[in-house]
Amino acid sequence: MVKVLFVCLGNICRSPMAEGVFRKEVEKNDLKNDFFIDSAGTCDDHVGSAPDLRAQQMALKKGLSISHLIARQIRREDFERFDYIVAMDKKNYRDLCKIAPEDCQHKISLLLSYAPGEIEEVPDPYYGRGEEGFELIFNLITQGSQGLLNMLQTVHFKEKKLNNEKGE
Ligand code: 4NP
Repeated sequence: MVKVLFVCLGNICRSPMAEGVFRKEVEKNDLKNDFFIDSAGTCDDHVGSAPDLRAQQMALKKGLSISHLIARQIRREDFERFDYIVAMDKKNYRDLCKIAPEDCQHKISLLLSYAPGEIEEVPDPYYGRGEEGFELIFNLITQGSQGLLNMLQTVHFKEKKLNNEKGE
């Protein structure tokens, strides 16, 4: 079982979208029982809230429901519990590094480090981004999630991946 936690600031826009997108990619690749997937925020401002309506609507537009997710703040035990802690932007990354125990620092990465493009971070969509902004963010998250899953398949499920590709 590989445990992946997606992290943004509020856990109401980017990381719930990443949780939903990555879960769908995992299901598509027949790996549902091999992953535990969750998301969290670095701040506690939105704890207990459903995802931002704009994020819910963009997810729905792309065929995904994330409306059931509930925001929470990252906890100390998450660093022990999860194998991969994936930040949306560099500020999230730095904040995670500040609070993670020394022996868990290696678990933290940036989502777009797994994407093929030049863009390094998923921008904060909260203020002043309309549907277009959310669509860009959703697409970046999809690229990062696909790259992340590809890397994880190579590291953890090489045999299964080869069999899937062969159509077995
Ligand atoms: P998220 O977006 O980190 O992608 O969930 C934000 C949500 C809330 C705020 C900023 C970003 N805020 O300032 O409250």
